[in-house]
Amino acid sequence: MVAVTPETGTSSTADARSGDLADQLRASFDAAVAAEERVEPRDWMPDEYRASLVRQMAQHAHSEIIGMQPEANWITRAPSLRRKAILMAKVQDEAGHGLYLYSAAETLGTSRDELLDKLHAGKQKYSSIFNYPTLTWADVGAIGWLVDGAAITNQVPICRCSYGPYARAMVRICKEESFHQRQGYELLLALSRGTEAQHAMAQDAVDRWWWPSLMMFGPPDDESAHSAQSMAWRIKRHSNDELRQRFVDIAVPQAESLGLTLPDPDIKWNEERGHHDFGAIDWAEFWDVLKGNGPCNEQRINQRRTAHEEGAWVRDAAAAYAEKHTSTGREVQA
Ligand code: 3HC
Repeated sequence: MVAVTPETGTSSTADARSGDLADQLRASFDAAVAAEERVEPRDWMPDEYRASLVRQMAQHAHSEIIGMQPEANWITRAPSLRRKAILMAKVQDEAGHGLYLYSAAETLGTSRDELLDKLHAGKQKYSSIFNYPTLTWADVGAIGWLVDGAAITNQVPICRCSYGPYARAMVRICKEESFHQRQGYELLLALSRGTEAQHAMAQDAVDRWWWPSLMMFGPPDDESAHSAQSMAWRIKRHSNDELRQRFVDIAVPQAESLGLTLPDPDIKWNEERGHHDFGAIDWAEFWDVLKGNGPCNEQRINQRRTAHEEGAWVRDAAAAYAEKHTSTGREVQA
């Protein structure tokens, strides 16, 4: 990013000088973003850019750690040791994603504690999708295929986000999400090709997760408060509806290969548009879930608060260890 060095002159008033400087900084920032340069933590950035990034990154980080809950629900009941090991690794990956994202948000001057306090107080959001229950083992597969699939579609473009630390965190996250998506697909394929009851379980899970997965992309473009500005700042590269359409186009042939149907009779290829048409999304349900009225909102946030309280001793121990380590300047033996 181009550094802006204000000219040290003798302008008539301090106000005029600071006004000029603000304009210069702003112009330099806009030019750098337009030239696809990365914004780094020490670069000047508009307050609104910083605030919007913190908002989005916090929501993203919170989604990763709350998203551990519906899947962890099935670790003890996984049908084989292989499936259990895979699911444990996946849930652990989500915790790691949260860590990368909270760390990236810290580079903007907001601490992880501050963001977690806001989540626990209901002042920041997490993805609507995690307010739905995992009722059967097949839901683990549907989450992998559809939820992680939707997440990848949304998140690969964030690897080119204008803010360096967020973009770099997303590269690794997307690689891991890709593995998650494949394990879900493979799990559903096994069920779909299994007994009649297993096939029915897979179909039921897809029926329940399809529409909430489409809602993950956010409200329609004409109701998206942040899209226009975020796209101008190159935080977002595509609109909510563009990414939703991309996801539908990817999912339709995958469902066919799985031998499962998507619960939308209106899905059909539109030759003229070169995309699949699909039915109307129930946006009233989406906004209701955001207001806290989804099937699991209360359960998720309560469990998160309890986990945070019960984990206090781990944070205290880690802080004491770090303190000892830095005060002696030597490695501490376990
Ligand atoms: N769930 C909850 N809130 C949502 C939402 C959703 N599915 N979609 C939008 N919203 C919220 C927005 O955060 C915003 O609220 P705010 O003003 O309080 O922040 C409001 O609805 C209006 O939406 P906008 O379209 O104006 O918001 P954005 O421009 O920020 O777009 C987004 C929403 C597409 C989700 C964007 O923030 C984004 O791409 N975020 C990064 C990715 C992310 O957070 N994904 C969450 C899922 S992560 C995950 O799934 C984990 C994986 O392991 C599966």
